[in-house]
Amino acid sequence: MVHFESVCPLRSSSIRTSWNRLVMQAIQVDNISKSYGKISALKSVSFQVEEGELFGLIGPDGAGKSTLFRILTTLLLADSGEGHVAGNHLLRDYRKIRRIVGYMPGRFSLYQDLSVEENLSFFATIFGTTIEENYGLIKDIYVQLEPFKKRLAGQLSGGMKQKLALCCALIHRPEVLFLDEPTTGVDAVSRKEFWEMLKKLKQKGIAILVSTPYMDEASLCDRIALIQNGEILTINTPEGLMTEYDLPLYAVKYDDTYQLLKGLRKMPYTKSVLPFGDSLHLTVEAETPVSKITEYLTDLGFENAEIRPISPTVEDIFLELSRRTESKND
Ligand SMILES: Nc1ncnc2c1ncn2[C@@H]1O[C@H](COP(=O)(O)OP(=O)(O)O)[C@@H](O)[C@H]1O
Ligand SMILES: [Mg+2]
Repeated sequence: MVHFESVCPLRSSSIRTSWNRLVMQAIQVDNISKSYGKISALKSVSFQVEEGELFGLIGPDGAGKSTLFRILTTLLLADSGEGHVAGNHLLRDYRKIRRIVGYMPGRFSLYQDLSVEENLSFFATIFGTTIEENYGLIKDIYVQLEPFKKRLAGQLSGGMKQKLALCCALIHRPEVLFLDEPTTGVDAVSRKEFWEMLKKLKQKGIAILVSTPYMDEASLCDRIALIQNGEILTINTPEGLMTEYDLPLYAVKYDDTYQLLKGLRKMPYTKSVLPFGDSLHLTVEAETPVSKITEYLTDLGFENAEIRPISPTVEDIFLELSRRTESKND
């Protein structure tokens, strides 16, 4: 077989360049900042979401997640920086963006006093489409709602509301889906089902940016950005994130957790110690032998304390990275 490149190298490199330009990101965020008066809600945030990618934005209340969603769905202007959604510029092409994105803005996206069916046809109508036209896309989700189609949205359970809101955000077959905390306040079973639905949507080629305050949902995304106080702490795959924790970590347990916490805080090798359920997660300086910790605890009278090396959770990584960012900012 003759390669095109070997026949015509110049031509082929220029084709490659334009091809690279053609392979556009679903979302491109470049140094976006936003303040509300003195509150700096986003501080030069940058990241990209690939086509067909399920990208999670994980951070606590007040991290800046909703602000970023509002900017990317063109409902709010950034103070500085630039962004593109499916190759469309946030300012220049805002009308186009509004047509091609689906947005589920957390709590108040449904009309509580319209029925399930009425909510769906309302959203279909404002996008100039019909339920029938794009039924294929929402079918798997809507079948679960069908038995309740005459019920008012306000009378649905949390999980059902989320499913309906997702159907409404999908009814015009968007290219990019923005879901702001879709699983907050939803029971564990519905949360699991919701993520299953997102996986299926992703397989249909829809790029998804989803925010959550639940650190354990990180593993369900292709990539995640951890965000706090308007700053991205890291962007990684769930597996890659685990390798960012490069210090020894132990779970330490003792009857009196509070006294143990006070004791460990004063230990010279301690980098951080935080309560996690009924134990403490202790991070120590690299290369501290466990015998040093045992010795220290015994000297303080915590003879029966249980010390066990553990792998970090996403929460451990989040706390460690935010500690590092805070000390860098000080
Ligand atoms: N309309 C607003 N006016 C003033 N401050 C706001 C407004 N919206 C958000 N904030 C503040 O901006 C920060 C980021 O908020 P938000 O984007 O809602 O974060 P998240 O969605 O992660 O909870 C918070 O400190 C919040 O109090
Ligand atoms: Mg929010």
